[in-house]
Amino acid sequence: MEKRNIPRHIGIIMDGNGRWAEMRGLPRFEGHKRGVGRVTEIVEAVKGIGVEALSLYAFSIENWLRPEEEVSVIMALLEGTLKKEFLNFMKEGIRFRTIGNREKLPENIRTVIEIAEEGTRDNRNFTLQCALSYGGRDEIIRAVRKAVGVNTKPEDITEESIAGLLDTAGTPDPDLVIRTSGEQRLSNFLLWQSAYSEFYFTNTLWPDFTKAELMEAIHEYQMRSRRFGKVDGARNLFVENSFGIPTKWSD
Ligand code: FPP
Repeated sequence: MEKRNIPRHIGIIMDGNGRWAEMRGLPRFEGHKRGVGRVTEIVEAVKGIGVEALSLYAFSIENWLRPEEEVSVIMALLEGTLKKEFLNFMKEGIRFRTIGNREKLPENIRTVIEIAEEGTRDNRNFTLQCALSYGGRDEIIRAVRKAVGVNTKPEDITEESIAGLLDTAGTPDPDLVIRTSGEQRLSNFLLWQSAYSEFYFTNTLWPDFTKAELMEAIHEYQMRSRRFGKVDGARNLFVENSFGIPTKWSD
């Protein structure tokens, strides 16, 4: 893998835990438990190659509609993992932050999150951004409401102003978004932020996603040319005079 052109920020839609468990005749929570194990390995791996931020889609706003028992298991796994990993975050200089609609989270989870965010706020080596109770549309609505709340004039609404009011403010947009388990859609993940992201879809279920496959995804990302809507290598035929006014087509 090339050392240059490492994505600064990777987003992962960790999908397929339930199917992984069902295929083995296990309860769905076993898939989620195994999924948490993958998180640790993948965080280590991306951090080790110089990626600056990783966003993980851990719980979507739509996931509140899942059976109460499954929701409780996911919340308990999150709480346990945060408590267990906190010292590791400090040792490794990892800043932990969550994005998503906090109001819907149970109080104990909110408290644990706030402690982890506050405690790791000044860590600079890496950002682990966990999307929890998160929906991209919900995030955009909350951002617009904040803008309206401070009586922003319509002409002051810009890409930058909206970006600065999103939960992700301060984190660069994801360069690469990975989704496991064969589904090829965004499912409300980082809608605004992934406008120019590269996508990598794999049939591998999240509990089976390894460091080797992560490297494959990054390698594929490096092979793609990222043009941001521009044309690579084309000569601009349009010539402007010193006032920036178009004057003629050059030959
Ligand atoms: C998708 O699989 C996975 C989830 C909804 C939960 C993922 C959460 C974790 C792995 C815990 C995260 C923990 C930390 C510390 C970030 P699915 O249940 O939708 O699978 P299916 O599509 O096969 O049913």
